Amino acid sequence: MNPADQGHHQTSLQAGIRLEQNQTARPRDTISDRPGFDDYHHDQHQQHHGGHSHSHDHGHSHDHAHGGHGHSQDHGHDHGEHGSLEDNDAVHEETLHFHKIIKAFSQYKASAMYANHRRRTDFYSLPERQQKMLPTYLERMERIDDAIEANYEIIKIICEDQQIFVNEDRATAKGKPERDAIYEPLIQELRTRFASVPVEQRGGINVLVPGSGLGRLAFDIAHEGFSAQGNEFSYYMLLASNFILNKSQRINQFKIYPYIHSFSNIAKSSDVLTEASIPDVNPSEIPRGTDFSMVAGDFIEVYGMEEENYGKWDAVVTCFFIDTAKNIVDYLETIHKILKKGGVWINAGPLLWHFENTPNEISVELSLEEVIELAKTIGFKMEIQEPVKSTYMANPHGMLKYVYECARWTATKV
Ligand SMILES: C[S@@+](CC[C@H](N)C(=O)[O-])C[C@H]1O[C@@H](n2cnc3c(N)ncnc32)[C@H](O)[C@@H]1O
Repeated sequence: MNPADQGHHQTSLQAGIRLEQNQTARPRDTISDRPGFDDYHHDQHQQHHGGHSHSHDHGHSHDHAHGGHGHSQDHGHDHGEHGSLEDNDAVHEETLHFHKIIKAFSQYKASAMYANHRRRTDFYSLPERQQKMLPTYLERMERIDDAIEANYEIIKIICEDQQIFVNEDRATAKGKPERDAIYEPLIQELRTRFASVPVEQRGGINVLVPGSGLGRLAFDIAHEGFSAQGNEFSYYMLLASNFILNKSQRINQFKIYPYIHSFSNIAKSSDVLTEASIPDVNPSEIPRGTDFSMVAGDFIEVYGMEEENYGKWDAVVTCFFIDTAKNIVDYLETIHKILKKGGVWINAGPLLWHFENTPNEISVELSLEEVIELAKTIGFKMEIQEPVKSTYMANPHGMLKYVYECARWTATKV
C-alpha cells in the first residue's frame, strides 16, 4: 500500500478501481474548458481550475496486482454513520460538477461537427471561381467528419461508466519524443538515486507524481519497478486515465484523431488526419510487487493537510507541475513535509505560472532563481541539472511549436 493510501477512506468499487476520499479534497475542472484543454497548450495559461470548494476527494487506483479491470464512480460516499448536512451539500455539488464534466464530453461530437460544418459553409460562401481553385478542401471535411465519429466512439466507451476525449498526446506513441526528452531524465535520476536498491526490491520505494495528467509518467516509473502513485485533480484527466489504464487490454487497441480540431499551422493537408493509437504500452505490464495507483484531488488538500501523511515518500517527481501553484510556497512546503528525511524531489518543467493575471485568484510568480532559493530556505539541498528542451503536447507535424527550456533539479530533504 502506498503511503497516501493511509488516512484515506477507500471504497471498493465494481472492479479494478478504488475510490479514495478524505474530507477536504476533490477533483477540480474549469468545465467551460473544451475537453482536451491543457494549460500548456497554445499559451492558454489564463485558464484555471478554481471555483469549487467541495469537501472531499475522489480517487481511483489501477490495481494491477489484482488484475482487475473496469471501473465505476461512487458519488454516494460514506460520510460516517449519518453524514453532516455540509457533507451532503458537498456531495450534491460534487455530483453536479461531475455531471457537467460528463455533459461537456458528451457534447464533443455535436461541437466538433458544428466546427466542421462552419468550415464547409465558409467554403461555400466563396465565389464559385475560388471554390474551384481548392478542389480537395471539401473532401477533407468529409474525412474529418469520419474522424470525429471515430473519436466519439471512444468517448462513448469512456463515458459508459459515467460518461472524454483528451488531446493528450503524451500518452500515445506519437508522444514518445516528448517523453524521451522530459520523462526519461526524471526516471534516469530515480534509477541513479536508488541505484543501491536491487531492481526486484524497487517496489519498496514509494514515488509520488503530483499533477500526473493521464498518469503516463507515474506508469513509466511503476514500469521500472518503483511503487508509484499519480495525483490529479481534473476529471477530464482522471476519466481518460481510467479509460487507458483500466479499459484497454492490448497495445494499439484504440485509434484516435487528435489533430482534427485545428487547421492552423498545418503543412500537409493529410496531417490533420494523422492517427494516434492507444495505448502504446500494455497497462497491465507492471512488475510484481510494484504498487501503482492514481489518487484524485488537489495535491495540497490530499497530501499536505494531515500530519499522518508526512514523512512517507521516498521520492516526489514533478513534471510540468510546480507552476500550477497559486502559492508556490505551499507546494514546496508540502513536498518537503511529505518526503522522508533524505528523500528526493526530482523536478523538470518551466515556470508558466498558471494563475498569473487570473481574476480573483492569488498567484505568487517567482523567477527560477527565487524558486531555487525558496527551496533551500524550506530545507532542501539543491542539485541543479542542465535544462532540457521540451515541447508540450505539440503537434509533431505542426508549423508552430513552443519549446520550453525546462529547469531541472534533484532536491534532497535534509
Ligand atoms: C501541465 S500538466 C502536466 C501533466 C504531466 N505531469 C505531464 O508532464 O505530462 C499539469 C497537471 O497538473 C494538474 N494539476 C494542476 N494543479 C493541481 C493540483 N493542485 N493538484 C493536483 N493536480 C493538479 C492539472 O490538472 C494537469 O493535469
